[in-house]
Amino acid sequence: MGDRNELLELWGDVLGASDDTTVDEAVVAELADYFDIDRDEARSRCDDYERHTAEEWADHDRSTPDGLIDYWNRRSPLFGILMSHAHQYSEEHPASSVDIAEVLADRTPTTMLDYGVGPATSSFFFERLGWQVTGADVSDTMLDFARWRAEKRHSECVFLDLRERELATGAYDVVVALEVMAHVPDIAATLTRMRDALTPDGMLVFNVYAPPDGPCGHLFVGNHHVIRHVRSAGFERRPRIGKYYRYQRVEHNRVQHAIAVVKDVLRHNAFVAGGAQLVRGAARRVRR
Ligand SMILES: C[S@@+](CC[C@H](N)C(=O)[O-])C[C@H]1O[C@@H](n2cnc3c(N)ncnc32)[C@H](O)[C@@H]1O
Repeated sequence: MGDRNELLELWGDVLGASDDTTVDEAVVAELADYFDIDRDEARSRCDDYERHTAEEWADHDRSTPDGLIDYWNRRSPLFGILMSHAHQYSEEHPASSVDIAEVLADRTPTTMLDYGVGPATSSFFFERLGWQVTGADVSDTMLDFARWRAEKRHSECVFLDLRERELATGAYDVVVALEVMAHVPDIAATLTRMRDALTPDGMLVFNVYAPPDGPCGHLFVGNHHVIRHVRSAGFERRPRIGKYYRYQRVEHNRVQHAIAVVKDVLRHNAFVAGGAQLVRGAARRVRR
């Protein structure tokens, strides 16, 4: 399978759409079923998820790792994520997994880690394309829902609670982190763990959705907070897939590692970038 429309149909199928049920209805029905609420309530939680998530974000201290995990253990983020998955089917939101599947089409499917797996829609999608997927997360709410959905779908995806277990070393040919990095407080350490989890020339694919007016749960603004750490964690950049960054694991010697660190500090350090802007601004003024 590689045709985009076929991939989108597969995405809809994974979300539970059928001849009688639209993707949107399937998502609402599944949430209603899982949380044992009626469909009108589930629909209203989906439609109003931004208000609910904002309230839940604000009602607790989010300045510690435990405070962040507490947020992901609330219900509201799930309603928002599944609504976004429905919008990916209609391409109102970028259909990330479909975009990535198109690029992975020339790779024999082997092992994949879905980091920050959430409700695991992407895991089920890639499994249907032949990948053996492990989904990892820090949230009980996400992992419980993912396991429940996996059983319903007769999926063999494996789920890993990152608070209890380390990632296996050298285990995955591909690591995907979809809509996750802007929520991770320890970026450099996380990238190192992802790198170690990859096979020697394994590939990391992620996005950084961190706009200034982004929804709650985003810990910083701007992709440089992530990008400046990637090469020094032992990766080399490959061509992007749409809004997704693609990096390959590489074996750096000490000198190469030091060069990567210096280059990334120079390119992505906010202070240096700010300084460069000032210098450029001053140069323009002098030229006038
Ligand atoms: C916006 S959701 C994206 C879920 C899924 N990747 C998707 O695209 O549908 C962010 C996910 O990252 C998880 N997460 C948050 N902080 C994390 C961390 N430090 N390490 C791993 N996962 C984390 C959350 O529990 C949540 O499932």
